[in-house]
Amino acid sequence: MSVSVTWHGHGTYSLNVGGTNIVVDPFFAGNNPAAKTSVDDVAADFILQTHGHADHIADTVPLAKRTNALVIANFEIHAWINNQGHANTHPLNTGGGYDFPFGRAKMTPALHSSGLPDGAYGGDPGGFVVWVGGKTIYFAGDTAVFSDMALIGDLGLDLAVLPIGDNFTMGPDDALLALEFLKPKAVLPGHFNTWPLIAVDVNAWAEKVKANTAVRPIVPAVDESFAL
Ligand code: NI
Ligand code: MN
Repeated sequence: MSVSVTWHGHGTYSLNVGGTNIVVDPFFAGNNPAAKTSVDDVAADFILQTHGHADHIADTVPLAKRTNALVIANFEIHAWINNQGHANTHPLNTGGGYDFPFGRAKMTPALHSSGLPDGAYGGDPGGFVVWVGGKTIYFAGDTAVFSDMALIGDLGLDLAVLPIGDNFTMGPDDALLALEFLKPKAVLPGHFNTWPLIAVDVNAWAEKVKANTAVRPIVPAVDESFAL
């Protein structure tokens, strides 16, 4: 089954597989300077939440409430979303996976932080490996590079979704190093150019990926979907 992947700007992505919509880190127009789509126009059956920072969670509760999507997050964020009035959540924690109706999702470690917008404790930050539609996709979330990414690479990744913006996460050079550990078939960069602090020449980075690795770089425009 084909998986349609869309980058919505910054660290926000969606997957569509057989009509099921999975949204990662909802941060849409009005909050996200890089986004074009309003959260009011987004379809969601499942939401994957990597951590609690506002540039990943600002639109999660409104999207979840309107669509009644199941929000999959670490335990602390699951409880925080319940407290915002949305009950349809599923808690995971680092290293734990679960078989959902769309496929399996497993929470991976991330080297970052996870405070929630109101100052509440957001638990540990994470990423996800998602097995969906016959594909294996790694959403790194916000993280530094770490050599245990090799264990994630051993899963056999069709796509790695990596931050490359530097300053708050790994930068372009460390993202190249991450590809050596992850060895995915393709890489989709994110978390760059949203603000001047994380400005990156993404086309130059994609050329470095081609020159130095066997990985196929994907540089989509905002809201442009591609089939995996
Ligand atoms: Ni963050
Ligand atoms: Mn972020």
